[in-house]
Amino acid sequence: MTTARGVGCGKVILLGEHSVVHGRPALAAGLSRGATAEVSASTDGLTRARFVFDTAEVDVLASQDADHSLGRALAALLATYTEPPPMQLTVRLELPAGAGLGASAAMGVAVSAALDQHLGVARTPEERATQTLAWERVFHGNPSGVDNTMAAVGGVAFFTRGQPLEPVRVRRPLVLVIGHSGEASETKLMVGLVAQQLEREPKRIGELFDAIAALVRNGRLAVEAGDLRALGQLMDMNHGLLSALMLSTPRLEDLCHAAREAGALGAKVTGAGGGGCMFALAA
Ligand code: PMV
Repeated sequence: MTTARGVGCGKVILLGEHSVVHGRPALAAGLSRGATAEVSASTDGLTRARFVFDTAEVDVLASQDADHSLGRALAALLATYTEPPPMQLTVRLELPAGAGLGASAAMGVAVSAALDQHLGVARTPEERATQTLAWERVFHGNPSGVDNTMAAVGGVAFFTRGQPLEPVRVRRPLVLVIGHSGEASETKLMVGLVAQQLEREPKRIGELFDAIAALVRNGRLAVEAGDLRALGQLMDMNHGLLSALMLSTPRLEDLCHAAREAGALGAKVTGAGGGGCMFALAA
């Protein structure tokens, strides 16, 4: 039996999470680690998948009514194909899930790439990014698209919702140290909390998003110029604004302070926040 394979990468948001959901730009970097998927023909006429995480294994049937969100996400992705045959999938995650590193998008992109290979479908990375939004919506409700785009395309890029991705030329390598708070981060919940703040105080929160957008544009220039010191300062400022949106936690604050005291050029929460990961830019 032949096996088709696909990969998707994780990501860190260097600058601009959350405001990116509301139309502002973000600067993101793909990680070499992510997810892998294998697809082969089904032996029992059903499409089922095994998801292998570092702490658990989950078996699901692809169905829009599945109890597990992974089963519903798989059904949503399969719905983008014309009459897909029954298949057997194995998906391995190389990242912590629910940590702000784009784990769900990495899995969706890996599954899409493996399905395409199995079914003989040709698709560009950009087309894959669009296709996997169906998968991401199951987990995130209102995804900006930055996670699945970075999972499909990788590299460092300037992303604005609904617009073509703009790759960014990196003048000096970015050495990032990622720290996990050990607390879970729930993207859907945190995106909802920020949307509530925007609804209550549209002017103040809108201005805060505009301030983050300015940091993102300057961050892009800093990356292109190889000015790591400037990028670090912009990260610290972005972290302060994310804290003002109540997206940090005491544990994430401790990790950011520890990184700065150890000589990091900057440190911030990455992804949805409220737990999950922070990262620091090493000198
Ligand atoms: O927590 P993650 O890895 O799913 O990142 C979410 C990034 C947000 O900007 C908070 C949401 C989005 O859809 O862009």
